[in-house]
Amino acid sequence: MSDKKAQLTIDGKADPIDLPVYSGSSGPDVVDVRSLVSQGVFTYDPGFVSTASCDSEITFIDGGAGVLLHRGYPIEQLAEKSDFLETCYLLLHGELPSPEVNDEFVNTIRYHTMVDEAIHQFFRGFPRTAHPMAMLCGVVGALSAFYHDDLDIDNPDHRLRAAYRVIAKMPTLAAMCYKHGVGQPFMYPQNEMGLAENFLHMMFGTPCEPPKVSPVLAKAMDTLFLLHADHEQNASTSTVRLAGSTGTNPYACIASGIAALWGPAHGGANEAVLEMLHEIGDESRIEEFIKRAKDKDDPFRLMGFGHRVYKNYDPRATVIRGICDEVLEELGAENDPLLRIAKKLEKIALEDEYFIERKLFPNVDFYSGIILKAIGIPTSMFTVIFATGRTPGWIAHWHEMLSDSYRIGRPRQLYKGYTKRDYPG
Ligand code: SDX
Repeated sequence: MSDKKAQLTIDGKADPIDLPVYSGSSGPDVVDVRSLVSQGVFTYDPGFVSTASCDSEITFIDGGAGVLLHRGYPIEQLAEKSDFLETCYLLLHGELPSPEVNDEFVNTIRYHTMVDEAIHQFFRGFPRTAHPMAMLCGVVGALSAFYHDDLDIDNPDHRLRAAYRVIAKMPTLAAMCYKHGVGQPFMYPQNEMGLAENFLHMMFGTPCEPPKVSPVLAKAMDTLFLLHADHEQNASTSTVRLAGSTGTNPYACIASGIAALWGPAHGGANEAVLEMLHEIGDESRIEEFIKRAKDKDDPFRLMGFGHRVYKNYDPRATVIRGICDEVLEELGAENDPLLRIAKKLEKIALEDEYFIERKLFPNVDFYSGIILKAIGIPTSMFTVIFATGRTPGWIAHWHEMLSDSYRIGRPRQLYKGYTKRDYPG
């Protein structure tokens, strides 16, 4: 228990209310306000700007310093020295695996990458023009129909098996969303390939020619997945936790996370960044869009800029910017006009008082879309890529919540509607 406390004095209430204060291993202290309901008051925090929804040991963010740690390891070091699957293991289990354990984990994932053939029929029902996120949301939610025998969520082994299944199958399902849209046959995962290489093969390979994936692009894809793997209690992860708190199955929880991620204020921003860069079209129009972003009467915001937590550079954006240069050089696209516009836009915004004052820096979405476009991934698939990368984070938080005592999430409100009135007549 805590030896620190806060006191809340409320006008009209005789005595101050003592509230325990807890300290974590890092980051701000928290005031435990759970007793307030018995005092007849709620806290008020729309958007949860100042609210800690849970305890967690998975990810720590220091927004002011631009720090992101996964189980204590800085994201920059993981991006340089680890890979996506090893980071998935770290997020789920809390420690880096030994080489032997990592080999076993990679092998387990490998043998879960195929999806039930019946799922191929699900895609046949979607129009070719369906947004890939609409398809992904649908088919991931449907996965629970295939694994109902493994869904004792109070059994840690069942939870981990579901976690491995959904991590393994997301790249396959993501590629199927793309293939359905372009009218090409679905490609089966190749067991001799690594996860990112396999994903690019399932995206761009066809039965008409042998697999051929650039190792540079596969490495860039793997690092992009890694950089998106988890991000504390962001909107989609909080959605997964809230859904999971009702006891529903993990596939339904991940589908709810996919739905939340789709929004342009969240994971949909990478798609919106590319649309914005296309709309800007030329470096000469950048000032016009900067002006619009600052105009309160204009709903336009500079996509890929700003963050609820980071009031410094998003450390992921710094890594992705570096990968951008490597990938475009590999593809001979160093002079990509969109990259030129992005870099000029970044420079101008970072020198503009409006953005400086509000600490609006490029976030993870600002450069990722340029890499994905250079690899040949259509803009509509960008958030599907984000969802594929974020799956280990979602399922690790779900597993962590269910490993501890938890209650169903049920926020209250400040009610401003009619007081009681009788039905006329
Ligand atoms: C992700 O939470 C996570 O961790 C998310 C994520 C993850 O990994 O899960 O990091 C991934 O979602 C990254 C964010 C992607 N979204 C975008 O790039 C969309 C553009 N950004 C904005 O919509 C906005 O910055 C948010 C949604 C990201 C953050 O919104 P906040 O914290 O609610 O910020 P705010 O609305 O309080 O803004 C503060 C001020 C406001 O101006 P004032 O009212 O003070 O005058 O900054 C302005 C805002 O108008 N502002 C922007 C802006 N972002 C904020 N002005 C212009 N362009 C922007 N992008």
